[in-house]
Amino acid sequence: MKIAILPGDGIGPEIVAEAVKVLERLRRDGLDVEWTHAPIGGAGYDAYGDPLPASTLALAKAADAILLGAVGAPKYDALPREKRPEQGLLRIRKELELFANLRPALVHDELAAASALKPERVAGLDLLIVRELTGDIYFGQPRGIRVNAAGEREGFDTMVYAEGEIRRIAHVAFQAARKRRKQVCSVDKANVLETSRLWREVVTAVGREYPDVALTHMYVDNAAMQLVRNPKQFDVILTGNMFGDILSDEASMLTGSIGMLPSASLDAHNKGLYEPVHGSAPDIAGQGVANPLATILSLAMLLRYSLGMEEAARRVERAVGAVLASGVRTADIAEPGVKPVSTAAMGDAVVAAL
Ligand code: NAD
Ligand code: IPM
Ligand code: MN
Repeated sequence: MKIAILPGDGIGPEIVAEAVKVLERLRRDGLDVEWTHAPIGGAGYDAYGDPLPASTLALAKAADAILLGAVGAPKYDALPREKRPEQGLLRIRKELELFANLRPALVHDELAAASALKPERVAGLDLLIVRELTGDIYFGQPRGIRVNAAGEREGFDTMVYAEGEIRRIAHVAFQAARKRRKQVCSVDKANVLETSRLWREVVTAVGREYPDVALTHMYVDNAAMQLVRNPKQFDVILTGNMFGDILSDEASMLTGSIGMLPSASLDAHNKGLYEPVHGSAPDIAGQGVANPLATILSLAMLLRYSLGMEEAARRVERAVGAVLASGVRTADIAEPGVKPVSTAAMGDAVVAAL
């Protein structure tokens, strides 16, 4: 099995290096995997003048799965949109048709105290955000900046969803719910947006094919509030690209830190790109303090969904659980009075626990 490793920018290379340590250990124990590194984001721009170099895209297409760190850094902020690091990530998602983004938010018992909420409100929390990833206002045309009739510049984007796009992501959510607590909450803004009206209609129709799964609908503003009021009411949250982006960062704080949240972005055949939910964290890049667990847990999802290596995936997740139980903490999840360890020491601890 071949994995393309795309570290990206900022803390990306630091956290990915720890996941590679885990892979090295698994390979030494007989796992049949090999991997190749390639640049994406700002690193791609620096090397080839393109945030998604053709060689990187070709490597990603040829691989069985992709592990990505994060992209973006302030020094690229002034570039035209097509050259920005974020564009490399959006393009690889689109090119590979990775429409289904799974973002599980799981509270490890040991970390309930690190949550932004009271421990009893989050203990045992296990929710899954199913975020549509290749449509919505992220990709809709037309978009741009134009001069309006008053001679003033105005920016515009297009929020658009085709029925087929809604249908296929809805199936992903209902199928995921079947393996869980059989509840889907579809999140939209159907009281205001036409895209959301269609979204709700199509999701409701798909829901009829899953009579064993309970479907509810919620407006996104209420959902943002309910996530902090009573997050355990949710099993699977199904939502569009932009709402899912925002709600998943919010959900990360229920688990203690955004440094804990992994994700899988899958196509229709379970080929996938795996990355932490967080970004390149320019404020802490280069300091060796970032939490690598979201990336290591993303590797576990990669082993499970794209390589079919369930036992290896569980082994990695158990090791992470053991490390947390032993009290090892990076700064973002350290309780007051606990001396945090470095990114590399956290990676080493996971390898040791394997
Ligand atoms: P961010 O997620 O990079 O950082 C937000 C905050 O969380 C920062 O204080 C950061 O230090 C902290 N944080 C993030 N990951 C952490 C980790 N593993 N351990 C400890 N702390 C962590 O979001 P931002 O600051 O809004 O964006 C920074 C850059 O990253 C931007 O260029 C943005 O476009 C990009 N970005 C990329 C991705 C991605 O590659 N998937 C995702 C989000 C943002
Ligand atoms: C994410 C990120 C990306 C997104 C950006 C960097 C394009 O925030 O993966 O959550 O908005 O999808
Ligand atoms: Mn995001």
